[in-house]
Amino acid sequence: MSSIPTTTTSSAGFFRIPPPPHRMPAAGVRMMAGALRSSASSVGTILTNLQHESATPLPVLRHVADAMTEDMRAGLAVEGGSDLKMILSYVDALPSGNEKGLFYALDLGGTNFRVLRVQLGGKEERVIATESEQVSIPKELMSGTSEQLFDFIANGLATFAEVEGGNFRLPHGRQREIGFTFSFPVMQTSIDSGILMKWTKGFSVSGTAGRDVVACLNEAMERQALDMRVSALVNDTVGALAGARYWDDDVMVAVILGTGTNACYVERTDAIPRLHGTMSASGMTIINTEWGAFSNGIPLTVFDKDMDAASINPGEQIFEKTISGMYLGEIARRVLLKMAEEGDLFGRRFPEKLTTPFSLRTPDLCAMQQDDSDDLQAVGSILYNATQKVESNLSSRKVALEVCDAIVKRGGRLAGAGIVGILQKMDQDSKGSIYGKRTVVAMDGGLYEHYPQYRGYMQRAVEELLGSEISRNIVIEHSKDGSGIGAALLAATNSKYEH
Ligand code: BGC
Repeated sequence: MSSIPTTTTSSAGFFRIPPPPHRMPAAGVRMMAGALRSSASSVGTILTNLQHESATPLPVLRHVADAMTEDMRAGLAVEGGSDLKMILSYVDALPSGNEKGLFYALDLGGTNFRVLRVQLGGKEERVIATESEQVSIPKELMSGTSEQLFDFIANGLATFAEVEGGNFRLPHGRQREIGFTFSFPVMQTSIDSGILMKWTKGFSVSGTAGRDVVACLNEAMERQALDMRVSALVNDTVGALAGARYWDDDVMVAVILGTGTNACYVERTDAIPRLHGTMSASGMTIINTEWGAFSNGIPLTVFDKDMDAASINPGEQIFEKTISGMYLGEIARRVLLKMAEEGDLFGRRFPEKLTTPFSLRTPDLCAMQQDDSDDLQAVGSILYNATQKVESNLSSRKVALEVCDAIVKRGGRLAGAGIVGILQKMDQDSKGSIYGKRTVVAMDGGLYEHYPQYRGYMQRAVEELLGSEISRNIVIEHSKDGSGIGAALLAATNSKYEH
């Protein structure tokens, strides 16, 4: 993307276009006291500083990848040994394709929860049928009580389970089994139990942290008189890995880049000192890294620091706050607001609405970056909405695009460096068997799926770090909805019944 000629163009031309005469300032738009504010050059300076402070040249990426590898080792060595919790998933066997029967999945990880049923037909028939439903979680429940949240979920599950017919068959006398995808940091205590360590992604439900989330769900199901059994509790990354592995034996890593972010991978049990020699029958297990908590060497700007300080979990989830969908729009909002306050980004009119935290969302950034019209019409209308009817001129639209690009570029490239950090740990331990053959990284999450620029930056960072030869062996692949089916598959693998 071309850079903006902030110094060669007169500020009057680019940053001080008055609103069209027929438009009066809209409600919520106040006029700036022009004399107190500086000129267009402030916009240029803020942009240049942003680009400089968020830059991720190869040495920075290399440092992040190496630090990720080191933090993984430290987290595996001792409990609490690093920012990365390196959680044992208790998933020691991945789906083989032989799974048969009806299984449910319940997926709670963001502003929606999903319920799903799948009829599995073994090696020959594989997935015979699936059905799913998505329910959005009312905002107030995200900061209500644990009981309220789990009652709401159990109710949705009960409604969904009521209508089961067609291709779905449960043998007589069997209890329905669920794979419960719970996408928050959970200290697993077995395959079907785990203690919530803390909420992330803006959730602040009281009474769940420190409790077994399966017990919370069971109690709510009892209150609904719903007779179902959680046979596997999994993180969404673990579900995604299981779901992708069902189709492809080379899948070794799964990454979620959505509202939040995380990665898991296949580890050898003899490479986990914390286990003190306890081996799984298969000799392997899946480790949920909880890489969102990583923080070593990430280039941060003043906007990131301010956003973190204002968040409900200051000092935590720094990698997540730099690369995931929940936060990219908010960082951009903060930059644009500062440009409006200090540098006339929107002329003399103050974009009041931009003072509201999270009013600019990552999908807005994405939509702006897809605009290839000469006058950046779409960018203009997104800014118009985001500012509650403040007009922008072509120059300020270009600046807004540069802001998006800087933030998204850093996010994508750091995500790429994280992936290389995991791969290189696995490669070092296996003496070259990761880089030396086809290895698949399964990807899921809206940010990855719907943001082409982000995805491109991520992919290129991986290639820059690995070089073209090794990159040919590393397949980064979208595994759509792996985590839903994956959780149902893990419910099948861990079923109390023979299958
Ligand atoms: C959570 C992870 C989850 C990730 C992606 C993070 O905020 O801590 O457990 O896997 O989001 O959903």
